[in-house]
Amino acid sequence: MIKSPSFGAEPWVLRETELDLDVLAQTESVFALANGHIGLRANLDEGEPFGIPGTYFNSFYELRPLPYAEAGYGYPESGQTVVNVTNGKLIRLLVDDETFDVRYGHLRAHERVLDLRAGVLRRALEWESPAGATVRVRSTRLVSFVQRSVAAILYEVEAPADPLRVVVQSELVANEPGTPVEDDPRAAAALESPLVSEEHFDHAARVLLVHSCRASKLRLAAGMDHIVDGPEGTEVNAESSPDTGRVTVAVDLATGQRLRVVKFVAYGASSQRSLLSVRDEVVAALAEARHTGWQGLLDGQRAYLDEFWDRADVELEGDPQLQQAVRFGLFHTLQAGARAEQRAIAAKGLTGPGYDGHTFWDTERFVLPVLTYTAPATAGHALRWRHATLDLARQRARQLGLQGAAFPWRTIRGQECSGYWPAGAAAFHIGADIADAVIRYQAATEDDEDFEREVGLEVLIETARLWRSLGHHDAEGRFRIDGVTGPDEYSAIADNNVYTNLLAQRNLIAAADGVARHPRHAAELGSDLEEAAAWRDAAREVVIPWDDALGVHPQSENFTDHQIWDFAATRPDQYPLLLHFPYFDLYRKQVVKQADLVLALHVRGDAFTDEEKARDFAYYEALTVRDSSLSACTQAVVAAEVGHLELAYDYLGEAALMDLHDLAHNTRDGVHIASLAGAWIAVVAGFGGMRDHDGALSFAPRLPMRLERLSFRLVFKGRRLRVEVTKTEAAYTLVEGDALEIAHHGETITVAVDNPAVRTIPAPLERPPPSQPVGRAPISRGADGEAARS
Ligand code: BGC
Repeated sequence: MIKSPSFGAEPWVLRETELDLDVLAQTESVFALANGHIGLRANLDEGEPFGIPGTYFNSFYELRPLPYAEAGYGYPESGQTVVNVTNGKLIRLLVDDETFDVRYGHLRAHERVLDLRAGVLRRALEWESPAGATVRVRSTRLVSFVQRSVAAILYEVEAPADPLRVVVQSELVANEPGTPVEDDPRAAAALESPLVSEEHFDHAARVLLVHSCRASKLRLAAGMDHIVDGPEGTEVNAESSPDTGRVTVAVDLATGQRLRVVKFVAYGASSQRSLLSVRDEVVAALAEARHTGWQGLLDGQRAYLDEFWDRADVELEGDPQLQQAVRFGLFHTLQAGARAEQRAIAAKGLTGPGYDGHTFWDTERFVLPVLTYTAPATAGHALRWRHATLDLARQRARQLGLQGAAFPWRTIRGQECSGYWPAGAAAFHIGADIADAVIRYQAATEDDEDFEREVGLEVLIETARLWRSLGHHDAEGRFRIDGVTGPDEYSAIADNNVYTNLLAQRNLIAAADGVARHPRHAAELGSDLEEAAAWRDAAREVVIPWDDALGVHPQSENFTDHQIWDFAATRPDQYPLLLHFPYFDLYRKQVVKQADLVLALHVRGDAFTDEEKARDFAYYEALTVRDSSLSACTQAVVAAEVGHLELAYDYLGEAALMDLHDLAHNTRDGVHIASLAGAWIAVVAGFGGMRDHDGALSFAPRLPMRLERLSFRLVFKGRRLRVEVTKTEAAYTLVEGDALEIAHHGETITVAVDNPAVRTIPAPLERPPPSQPVGRAPISRGADGEAARS
């Protein structure tokens, strides 16, 4: 039985009506607020109890040694790990001599609400202290989308029954205890109290702390300021010490009276700038926040999100739970990237310490396709960040004996941090995933004119060079890419992975086209049409293995010759397999951790026939165990395409509810941003049938039984498009912009602002339902639209 809280099924909010300390860490992730620059886990205002305390500043990391039993050439020596930075969300409360703590006294009411339109987390509670004093507290927290360094909290205390003596201590705390313990003692040592105090300062209701990281030397300033509104006699004091800042408000509340404290928090960090500069940046951010005021910050937040939802909302009629979950997924996807601005978007966003705060291919493969069509500027920033790490990727390629750029499998700042090369360095497909995101972004945006010249062309050229040097032409002239790991991490170091080869092919052709379009700029990058011709040769001859006997694509050469995993003998408690079986055994058998060939069927759908898609999908369904959260969304997309709409719907449920139902049992470490973004992909590419091959948009919508209506919006080449789908027809409306050519189930149509297009939906082909490994079918979404929870 998965123990997880209920968040109701309201369309725009997640509501928790009771505090369950057993799932506190999970709710801290689910209710986390972030803007891509800073992130606050939803730790209780008073700091305790907590699951995992967490405050993050994008790309603020400490270095930690990477342990190897047997080291080898090219293994990274140190890793980067996200730091729980100075906690600015702490507000402790003392009521008539008693410290407010939900574990003591009587918590009469406790509600938390994440509001997806307002962009705030609200909390309301009534507490009776062990001595019998009753207090009401309301807090509202936001991380500003508009002022990226700023978070703010409105904290209100009321005496509902009797007069109260109240003290509110608003704090900034560095080197907070409670960070999860590391197995490796050397890493634990590096991460214990990583922040070294450089300066502390207090004045009036304002405190500032400046720290730097022991090994990475990154510097961080955190500041807070307050506006206090209480009855006469309210007293305010500030104090600071190296790791703590405190503003204390003492007040006597008569019955019915209220104390209102607005806390502004700001962060700044740098690897290069002086202490004075970083500190002043924070002072300035606080001044601006104060100037804007609480209401101004709230209004800005709302306006930012109104704009976003106007471009990006998805409506699902017939399943309130999934309606909520899909919006929740979009909200977290936005929170992960909104103001990342030339910093990475991590697998957990800024919601928890999972995966050490690293970014993977998750970003370009799952997150950026969503942001490209819903918040394109953020996708552009993320790709500019990758581009900024090109020198490191070039160095890494040289170290590996290759040309071009080898982007890291996992990193915060750009250096390779994966200590496991079979599923790290060998997962070269990340280069093609990045290239694919560049190609998509260039095709979908028209307003970012400098992008191709400043970013796109160079990334495409350097990734193409990598493929050209990693692969080779064999005696028959075929271009082989041997010894690589594809997306499925239960196979490694295999030859001619179909996904990798097809994505490399697209990468090589796009680079060659880019050189032809911009010969002068290409020359500055040392490239020319001769080099491009070699890329075209490789692309044309790339090997795509095929199993004639089975009539399917092996995901890599010889894969279908391997023994099939003994699923019948595998107990439910032995999943995920990676925790119960040795990799050597997983690697030599047919068992698939996550969509690999099936991912190729989606993103390189232009390279397969319909019949191949249907046969391949059925074959890999029977082998795929989904031990990664990066699988269900892709299976949803392809299931929908080949006509298994109900199965697709179950997979959509899994992707969308990954964190709300804690399906992978690790939401405590942060939400799964790629799976949440994947919910959008499952809806839009799955039931909307949207594809974007060769820069053109096509749709092939079809609804599963449960959905009465689906509507989604997206932006494309400066236009705004709305697609509304019912069981029988689809309507395409251009909300803004010049006429646009799209396709509906293969028919080309033009939509213009005054000329929406309505088309009927053809019936899907009937195909026998595929089966999954025993016990690994997705949870079926029962007749009432609620997942049948086991
Ligand atoms: C998956 C990878 C993914 C990583 C981070 C792993 O379990 O197999 O594909 O990049 O998690 O989300």
